[in-house]
Amino acid sequence: MRKPLIVGNWKMYKTITEAVAYVDRIKAQLPPADQVEVELAVPTLFLQSLVERTRGTNLKIAAENCFYQDEGAFTGETSPVALRELGIKHVILGHSERRRLFYESDAVVNQKVHAALQAGICPLLCVDETMKRQVQGDRVQWVVSQVLTGLAGVTAAQLPRVTLAYEPSWAIGAGKAAATPSEANEGCYLIRQTLARLYGESAAARVRILYGGSVNQTNLPALLAQSDIDGVLIGRASLDPAVFLQMVAVAQ
Ligand code: G3P
Repeated sequence: MRKPLIVGNWKMYKTITEAVAYVDRIKAQLPPADQVEVELAVPTLFLQSLVERTRGTNLKIAAENCFYQDEGAFTGETSPVALRELGIKHVILGHSERRRLFYESDAVVNQKVHAALQAGICPLLCVDETMKRQVQGDRVQWVVSQVLTGLAGVTAAQLPRVTLAYEPSWAIGAGKAAATPSEANEGCYLIRQTLARLYGESAAARVRILYGGSVNQTNLPALLAQSDIDGVLIGRASLDPAVFLQMVAVAQ
C-alpha cells in the first residue's frame, strides 16, 4: 500500500506574511505522518521561513523548481544542493507551466531530475498532456515519451526517490474541469505501465503517482479511490487553508 501524498502547489501566490499565517493555522491540525504525507510547494522566497516554522510537524515544505547545476553564474536560479541543505525533500520538476511558459524541454527536465537526485532531494516529476494531444489521439505516446525522457538514465536504485504526477494541462487552472476519476486513473496507470516496462512490475508498484488538475474537496474522494492514484497535486484549492485541511482529512 502506498502512503497517500497530498501536495499543495501555491505557484506564485501569497506574500511571506500570508504564508506564515497559513502554515501557523494548519500545522498542528494534520493527521499523523504514518497515515498521510502533507506538503506545500511554495515560492523559493518562502522556503527557509516555512521550513523553520513547520519543523517537527507533519507539514513538509517542497520546492516548485530547481536548476540542473549545483552552483554557478545562473542568475535567478535555485541550487538543488542549497535546497537539500535547507531540509527540502521534494522538488516539483517539469510542471506544465514551466514547459509551456519557460520552454523547459524534456531534456532539461531530465537534467534537473538527475541534479535533484545527485543533490540528495526527491524529484516530483510532472507529466503533462495537452488538449492538442487528446484531440490528435496521440496522448498515449505523448505521456509515455515524457516518462521515458524524464527518467532517462535514472537507475532502479534511484527510482524509489522519484514521485510522478499526471497533470493534464487541459484540466489545470481556472475555468477548467478536472479529469474524471477514470480519466485521471487512466493517465496514472499509463505512467505506471511505463515504469513497469522500464524497471519491472514490483518497482513500479512502489512508486507514488499523483494526479493534478482542478482537484478540490468535492472530487478528491473519488480520485483517491482509484487504483493508481496515490495522491494529488492541488493548485488553486490549496490556497485556502481551511479547504486544504478538508482535503487532507479526506486522504486520511
Ligand atoms: O500542480 C498542480 C496544478 O497545476 C493544478 O492546478 O489550480 O488546476 O488545481 P489547479
